[in-house]
Amino acid sequence: MQLHMENIYKNFRDKEVLKGISVRMENGVYGLLGPNGAGKTTMIRILADILQPSMGQVFINGQDKNTCGDEYRAKIGYLPQEMNFYPDFSGWDYLRYIAALKGIPAEAAKVRIVTLANSVGITKDLRRRCVHYSGGMKRRLGIAQALLNDPQILILDEPTAGLDPQERIKFRNIISAFSKDRIVLLSTHIVSDVDSIAKEIMMMEYGVIKKPRTGEEYIRLIENRVWTFQIPVDDLIVYQHNAVISNVVPKGNTMEVRVVDERKPNDDAVPAAPNLEDAYLYIFNYLPNKEFTVKNLPRSRISRISIGSR
Ligand SMILES: Nc1ncnc2c1ncn2[C@@H]1O[C@H](COP(=O)(O)OP(=O)(O)OP(=O)(O)O)[C@@H](O)[C@H]1O
Ligand SMILES: [Mg+2]
Repeated sequence: MQLHMENIYKNFRDKEVLKGISVRMENGVYGLLGPNGAGKTTMIRILADILQPSMGQVFINGQDKNTCGDEYRAKIGYLPQEMNFYPDFSGWDYLRYIAALKGIPAEAAKVRIVTLANSVGITKDLRRRCVHYSGGMKRRLGIAQALLNDPQILILDEPTAGLDPQERIKFRNIISAFSKDRIVLLSTHIVSDVDSIAKEIMMMEYGVIKKPRTGEEYIRLIENRVWTFQIPVDDLIVYQHNAVISNVVPKGNTMEVRVVDERKPNDDAVPAAPNLEDAYLYIFNYLPNKEFTVKNLPRSRISRISIGSR
């Protein structure tokens, strides 16, 4: 299976939201990472055939998707970022309804629903009205509906939003197993959702995808640039304006900060092993609209801060 976007542009009125997206996907998991408003959902909706691009084409196995008729949609499973449910529907009713829309015969649908409900962990809630589900359960129901037609291409927009850590790991395992002979495209803000399972990661900002790379390639970009050290609480503000702080952990009267910087930021700083989250923060803080190579990684300027322990 091959899915290929060729020079996709999308405008909403005079606003250019996608600016020449070209990507090639083959079987495996692809992560789509980027800040709010980058254009991830717009790209995903084009792939899911909900939106038409202003310019450019989508090809499936070399054929323009617009010439495939219903066959293209039959190959797609799509989890939208936001879902609406009929107030009277139970989880079971909802899945039966989606199965009917997808043209799955009733008996086959029942078997499939039971299997999927079990794998996403909603079996005991299937008879409850889904408007009353928690956010995480609605997400799991959404993942089940996307898998109903056993799609060749699975497109998931923020699939793990609202899932607790245990469910997130379970989800990752389901997706990893599912992707063996299929394409999975997954958009997320949570770097750890994709760093262990994605064969390539696309980082998107302002409607542009920087060259897709593997997680290891991104990490290599910031090798020898990640440091940890302790500072007095009052100094934190200084570092916020001079470095990318990827983590802060309170340690007694001081703060242990984790910083991404090409130069040693502090005499006491010790090198730390870089991870994809460091790379994500570094890239999105300093390299808007630029292709990044080690050469043009500039000196730090303004930081983003995430407080908490790893
Ligand atoms: N139907 C629409 N009409 C007008 N503007 C839109 C429409 N859909 C999206 N946009 C705009 O396009 C830009 C990209 O939106 P999009 O939802 O694709 O971003 P995103 O990367 O998915 O963001 P998030 O991480 O918040 O989900 C935003 O500025 C948004 O306001
Ligand atoms: Mg979105």
